[in-house]
Amino acid sequence: MWVWLLALVVVMFGFVVFRGAPYVPSRKRQLEVAFKELYHLDDSDVLVDIGSGDGIVLRTAAEYGAKAIGYELNPILVLITRILSRHQSNVVVYLADFWFVQLPAETTVVYVFGESRDIRKMAKKVQDESIRLEKMLSLISYGFQIPGQTPVKVVGAYFLYEFSPLQGSKA
Ligand SMILES: C[S@@+](CC[C@H](N)C(=O)[O-])C[C@H]1O[C@@H](n2cnc3c(N)ncnc32)[C@H](O)[C@@H]1O
Repeated sequence: MWVWLLALVVVMFGFVVFRGAPYVPSRKRQLEVAFKELYHLDDSDVLVDIGSGDGIVLRTAAEYGAKAIGYELNPILVLITRILSRHQSNVVVYLADFWFVQLPAETTVVYVFGESRDIRKMAKKVQDESIRLEKMLSLISYGFQIPGQTPVKVVGAYFLYEFSPLQGSKA
């Protein structure tokens, strides 16, 4: 019984590598720097974390007054997020593969802690969503620069990018 449970947990955490980055959480202290010095997050923001892990980004964003929405492929991490954020009404997490998700219309900023293999594709997704939603979207990337794009701001390991519908139509 325990062996099967352990095997299930290993599979849950292991299979995501075929769809994106494995689980490594952002650090709260660094998130606070990012939300203060890189992108001034406040209650007018709707932050979407694509690949939201245990929800640390969502909970920290909610402390700044933002609405925080996560998409996570691992059901164990979704459950942990729901338990840990049960007192934060402005945190929502969905069990979903972010490659198939359309960002909510009210999104203002997207948070990504991916890996070098996917960062260009993630940036394209945000660009495509900016065109579809006909609005500017900010992207906070933790640890990875988007090749060929100049960030509007850099603080430590965080890179801030902006995508506008116009930018996409020129590309
Ligand atoms: C490096 S962790 C970052 C977690 C969180 N964003 C943070 O910064 O603390 C990447 C997360 O993305 C999830 N993930 C990977 N591919 C995914 C996909 N296609 N759809 C949804 N979640 C995915 C993993 O399960 C993992 O929890």
